[in-house]
Amino acid sequence: MLTVEQVEKSYTQGGMFSKQRQQVLKKVTLECRPGECLGIIGESGSGKSTLGRLMLGLERPDRGTVRFEGQDVMNRRVRVGQISAVFQNYTSSMNPFLTVQDAIMEPMKAQQKTHESVQRPQKAAAAKVDMLLAQVGLDTSYKLKYPHELSGGEAQRVCIARAISTEPRCIVLDEAVSSLDVSVQIQVLQLLKSLKSLYTMSYVFITHDIQAAAYICDRLVFFRDGRVEETIAVEQLKHVQSDYARKLLKHLISL
Ligand SMILES: Nc1ncnc2c1ncn2[C@@H]1O[C@H](COP(=O)(O)OP(=O)(O)O)[C@@H](O)[C@H]1O
Ligand SMILES: [Mg+2]
Repeated sequence: MLTVEQVEKSYTQGGMFSKQRQQVLKKVTLECRPGECLGIIGESGSGKSTLGRLMLGLERPDRGTVRFEGQDVMNRRVRVGQISAVFQNYTSSMNPFLTVQDAIMEPMKAQQKTHESVQRPQKAAAAKVDMLLAQVGLDTSYKLKYPHELSGGEAQRVCIARAISTEPRCIVLDEAVSSLDVSVQIQVLQLLKSLKSLYTMSYVFITHDIQAAAYICDRLVFFRDGRVEETIAVEQLKHVQSDYARKLLKHLISL
C-alpha cells in the first residue's frame, strides 16, 4: 500500500556552501501493508524521521520512490486526505493561534480544496469535530481551547483527531508518544489501537522505544545507520537474528 523502494537521501553537512554530504538513507526498501501497524525502530540519529518525512511526501528522495497505491507521494493529490501524520512535539506541530476546533478542521479543508468532490457543509463539519473529539476521549468544551491550554496527552489526542479527520488510509506517527508520561503513553497507545480497528487504517509507527513498538505493532523494521537491518513479525520477535535487533530487544526483556 505504502511502499518505499531503494530510497536514498543525503544532506549537505557543515553549512550551505559545504560540498560534504551525509548519506542519511541508504537504499531503503520496505512496505506498509493495508491495515497493519509497521514499526520503524532504531536509535536516535539512524534516519527514522527522515524516512518518515519522505513517506509523507514532505521531502523528495535523491533516488528511489515512495508510492501510495502505486502512485508517487510527491504528487500532492495522491496523498492529501489519504496519508496523515502525528509528530512528537505537539507544541511545535500545532499552530498556537488555532483553536482545537480549527486545528481539527484544517486537514478537511485542505482535502476539499484538492478534491472538489469531497464537500462538507459547515454544520456537518461542526458535528464531525464533536464526533472526532468524542472518539479521542475529549468533550466538546475543548473545541475553543488553544494549544497552550492543553496537557501533553490532550494535545496529542487533538493531533490524533486531526490526523483521522479525513479518514486516511495510513498515518505516519513519528515518536508520537515518546514525550508523554508513561501512564499517558499507555492511554494514547490504547486509543491508537482502538481507532485503527474502527477506521481500518495502517500505521507507520516510528520510535526508539521498543516497548511501545512491541505493544502496538504487527511487524517491526529494525533501522540502523540509514539501513533496514531486519524485518520481523512481532510474534516472532524472540527469533530476531541481527546483533543490533538483539541488543534493542534485550532492553525489552530487562524491563
Ligand atoms: N534537514 C536536514 N538537514 C541536514 N541534516 C539532517 C536533516 N534532517 C536530518 N539530518 C541528519 O540526518 C541524520 C538522521 O536524522 P533523523 O532522520 O532525524 O534521525 P532519527 O529520527 O532516527 O533520530 C542526523 O545525523 C541528522 O543530523
Ligand atoms: Mg526522529
